[in-house]
Amino acid sequence: MHIDLSKAIAHLNTGVIVAIPTETVYGLAAPLFLENSVKQIFTLKKRPPSNPLIVHIADRAQAEPLIDQIPPHFDTLADAFWPGPVTLVVPASPHVPEIVRAGLPTVALRIPGHPLARALLKETGPLVAPSANLSGRPSSTRPRHVEDDFGLEFPVLDGGPCQKGIESTILINKDNEWQIGRLGALSINEIEAVLGYPVKSASAERPLCPGQHFRHYSPKAKLQIAECALEISGVVVGFSDRLYPKAARVIPLGPLSDPAALSQNLYRTLRALDEEGIEEAHIDFDFPKEGHLLTISERLLKAAARHSSGAGGAGGNSSGNASLRDSVNSDSSASKEIF
Ligand code: TXA
Ligand code: MG
Repeated sequence: MHIDLSKAIAHLNTGVIVAIPTETVYGLAAPLFLENSVKQIFTLKKRPPSNPLIVHIADRAQAEPLIDQIPPHFDTLADAFWPGPVTLVVPASPHVPEIVRAGLPTVALRIPGHPLARALLKETGPLVAPSANLSGRPSSTRPRHVEDDFGLEFPVLDGGPCQKGIESTILINKDNEWQIGRLGALSINEIEAVLGYPVKSASAERPLCPGQHFRHYSPKAKLQIAECALEISGVVVGFSDRLYPKAARVIPLGPLSDPAALSQNLYRTLRALDEEGIEEAHIDFDFPKEGHLLTISERLLKAAARHSSGAGGAGGNSSGNASLRDSVNSDSSASKEIF
């Protein structure tokens, strides 16, 4: 159900969860300090409690009480990229509820670029907002996607289609250096240009973001990764500026020459497979894995991994949840150096 700004404010203030637009993807929002609403978000999304939430703020003033210690170059990054599609993970002040941090000593912060989101945040104060999808499913980039996952009656503040279409880039300060915790809408090049040094990415085996342990972005359709475009047959998720001589049907992500358009269309296209009842599709993975295309390739691999690993359920398995807490919290190098 589409609602306006004043209704969204009223709902949030009385503990009703609302889907909100951001420039990246829609989020499921609850006030940072309303513990019951925050709990409900985990339940609604079927999200493991070990996966912490990003806190969205209207401005730097709302961030200050939430930060324990400001890491080096935090101001440089915030000045350059906020409002915008980057999340900065910093040591948390004791004000940040434990449930939001999933027990970690850090908090993930972001000022979204969408004007409606900021107008909302100015009135409500900090809001937690994970992506507005059932855990494991493709993120929502349109109000209709939220309604597909949570029902037609679910309140959605309608901000139109998301401009970026892919989640924020997450940066984490480790060893006095900012590292990539999750690839996202802000490119590594732009970040390096501002920081003046090459940024490392966390390895897949030892991710810096707990969420990277879980399965993500998967439609119900079985996805196969195909490395050679000319050879792909059946239903192809591919590029509109490329020919697929053996394909029965092509579902276009957009032109390979326009990575921004590809990002915008990515989740909508993955969701469209299910809307059309397609059971199996082949993804054209025959493209250079650099810049925004690297981020898109990472999302596509994760979307397909659900099937290749044989485990179906949303959001990863329970042993993964337990080991995640251990790997982030009890690994001595991780807990001392990252946080
Ligand atoms: O663009 C976005 O970031 C969207 C919009 C709605 O803002 N939000 C989003 O939230 O993608 P979510 O919950 O789907 O993904 C948040 C990611 C997860 O991988 C989580 O593990 C990580 O952020 N995260 C949150 N707090 C963290 C922390 N303290 N340390 C490391 N990673 C953290
Ligand atoms: Mg998500």
